[in-house]
Amino acid sequence: MKIIRSTSVILLIIFLAIKGYGNDAHELWLKKQPAKSVVISSNNKSVIVNNAIEALKNGWQGENNARLKLRIVKDKAINNDGFKLDNNQIKANTPSGILYGVYELLRRQQTGENTNSILSNPSYQNRILNHWDNLDGSVERGYAGNSIFWRGEKDLAVTANDLELWKQYAIANASIGINGSAINNVNASPKMLSSAVLQRVKSIADVLRPFGIKTYLSVNFASPAVLGGLKTSDPLNADVIKWWKAKADEIYKLVPDFGGFLVKANSEGEPGPQDFGRNHADGANMMADILKPYGGIVMWRAFVYSPSNKDRALQAYLEFMPFDGKFRDNVIIQVKNGPIDFQPREPFSALFGAMKKTSVMPEFQITQEYLGHSNQLAFLAPMWEETLNSDTYQNGEGSTVAKVTNGSIYNQKYTAIAGVANIGLDSNWCGYNFAQANWYAYGRLAWNDKLKSSQIADEWLKLTFKSEKENADNWTVGFLEPVKKMMLESREAVVNYSMPLGLHHIFAAHHHYGPGPWWAPKNARPDWTPPYYHQADSTGLGFNRTKTGSNAVSQYHEPLTSQLNNAATTPEIYLLWFHHLSWDYKTKSGRKLWDELCYSYDKGVNQVRDFQKTWDKIENYVDSTSFVEMQKLLKHQAFDAKVYSDACVMYFQQFSKRPIPFELERPVYN
Ligand code: GCU
Repeated sequence: MKIIRSTSVILLIIFLAIKGYGNDAHELWLKKQPAKSVVISSNNKSVIVNNAIEALKNGWQGENNARLKLRIVKDKAINNDGFKLDNNQIKANTPSGILYGVYELLRRQQTGENTNSILSNPSYQNRILNHWDNLDGSVERGYAGNSIFWRGEKDLAVTANDLELWKQYAIANASIGINGSAINNVNASPKMLSSAVLQRVKSIADVLRPFGIKTYLSVNFASPAVLGGLKTSDPLNADVIKWWKAKADEIYKLVPDFGGFLVKANSEGEPGPQDFGRNHADGANMMADILKPYGGIVMWRAFVYSPSNKDRALQAYLEFMPFDGKFRDNVIIQVKNGPIDFQPREPFSALFGAMKKTSVMPEFQITQEYLGHSNQLAFLAPMWEETLNSDTYQNGEGSTVAKVTNGSIYNQKYTAIAGVANIGLDSNWCGYNFAQANWYAYGRLAWNDKLKSSQIADEWLKLTFKSEKENADNWTVGFLEPVKKMMLESREAVVNYSMPLGLHHIFAAHHHYGPGPWWAPKNARPDWTPPYYHQADSTGLGFNRTKTGSNAVSQYHEPLTSQLNNAATTPEIYLLWFHHLSWDYKTKSGRKLWDELCYSYDKGVNQVRDFQKTWDKIENYVDSTSFVEMQKLLKHQAFDAKVYSDACVMYFQQFSKRPIPFELERPVYN
């Protein structure tokens, strides 16, 4: 930063000499090019800029001995991490901006896009991954092996392997614009804040920092009592405040650019301010005041619900709206995309746009907890695009979820977005190859919330699979187009064979893989049982959230309230989310609800069968390991999709007492 400030124009002359370079096991989307020895005439000492130069060495596609002349220019007109690519210049305001500019340049080279006259500013200031990683090395809802950060509280020594792995992780994140990592589970162990663990946190932060990535920690609200031995963790108690202050001092001594705290409070049994008769604002503000002098933020999650409420979908709004305007400016309320819990499809959470005087950030789930773990193909960009583009109408038409959270409508001091990571120790990082596309897509959308899923899929496929040997036209027609189509359809296929038409949370209990619409043991919490959500009975199906039901529709702004209150004007993708409808209700296709439901399930299964056909045709375009892996995955998915579909259709048939339409496949499992 200092160097860039001291000289507004820095000339880099990079001589590229070609050497061979092998693939490594952890390779992600950005392919290394033959290595170059580079001579740089620059007095720039910023580690981030040095890493940008290193990235250029590894990735620049020049002709043999081509000479890259690149000027790095400080441009104050560019926002925080943004950059401009122009006639062999990278203009930026910060070292990170240069790093992102370099990666944009490399990506554009590899995908064959124009590299001139590009101006790019990030949509969100803080683009964060949330790792649900536990100290013992396990990963909550992780399907890609153990944690890349933790091995156990007795095994905190940092190895050379750790350092290399974290570095590769940091490079992958930087290459897609991610600039923050919360490195432990939101169900946080108080031990995370112990001095021994914080030493390892420092080591991680030291590796991430040179790639522009800040480290954040999830913290357990009861830490002062559980870890610190105090009598209470009441946020208004002077000793408790003193304890947090001392802890923050300790952290910032080790990690001077520490990003802040992520807090899951009074949710699913986690401690919080309500345990002491206080409220969310009391809890969040106490931490925010302590972090403020350091520039830290508090991401306070709105994922709250309890069995007492007649509709779980109502609760976050009810609990948080009364505190709108009561939070400090360095508190951001972190809201899951939908009101329930990362379902294959949910309408957007009503809190988006409704909290007008409070910073709000979206939380997406990259790991496929409810979308087939790492056994099923589900490209999630279409789901996130759907949420970001949903119109909340909170500040007039066009107040999309993106705009009410990225600072373009409301005055937010900090803007942020979070994605629950799908990363683990698996050799391909994410459990299956195409799951990398979800990590990639999250980063790209966090940087540019206007990107289209089709463009993201296009980029990722080119970066990951494009072979120089292949004739470009053949590759586009034979591989790119059909595989892109498959990716773009894949999330909708999961919706269709698991919970179409607005159905939700009818999963097998606990592990959330496969169907369980029947699961309702006598003593189970009702809001943890699928019948609570689907409400199937002899009269029909669906959750009545209209004015005659739980009235969740009233949490939305007009014209949505009226639209959603009426089945005829409710988008069919949300039909059974908002309405309990008769089995004979006439849907838009002209079919009765029961038939439409059967058709939807059948369609989902057939979509996966088609994916199998698509994939079998592309064998010549990918290496045999990738080919076989995906072939196996799709076979597994087709099998499980049929199980899902049959189980749900036969279960609901007990209530509908209607035949499965004759032209559809018969169930094969019972
Ligand atoms: C889901 C998930 C939990 C997780 C929780 C959360 O309920 O199943 O494992 O802890 O979300 O987001 O806090």
